[in-house]
Amino acid sequence: MSKQQLIEKAIESRNNAYVPYSNFQVGAALRTKSGKVYTGCNIENAAYPVTCCAERVAIFKAISEGETEFVEIAVAANTERPVPPCGSCRQVMSEFFNPDTEIHLTNLKANTMTIKMDELLPFSFQKTDMDK
Ligand code: THU
Repeated sequence: MSKQQLIEKAIESRNNAYVPYSNFQVGAALRTKSGKVYTGCNIENAAYPVTCCAERVAIFKAISEGETEFVEIAVAANTERPVPPCGSCRQVMSEFFNPDTEIHLTNLKANTMTIKMDELLPFSFQKTDMDK
């Protein structure tokens, strides 16, 4: 699947967003090394902090299916600039992505930027930081 097709999947996934509180639909599409694509949308909750972002839904779906190697993810929302992932999603991405995993951020006007994991969250806390 091409980068453009992955972006289209992310845009399409916005349609399933459960967003009665923000009315802000986000979609994500994650491609594994084996070529499978896992999609995600944001899912909100009346207890607001329980909300899960589209990126984390896609990543957790993939992890729960036994996937461990990821090549790229696309994230889409109706924003002015390419949608910036929140801090929690950046930390979750850094747990499972390689430093060179590509993150394609887009809006509905086709303003797209691609950034690598280590640029999106530099100096991230890693499991190795707990080693003495
Ligand atoms: N949201 C995402 O799904 N991903 C992001 O990277 C930014 C924020 C969602 C969470 C919430 O449902 C809505 O957007 C407003 O914050």
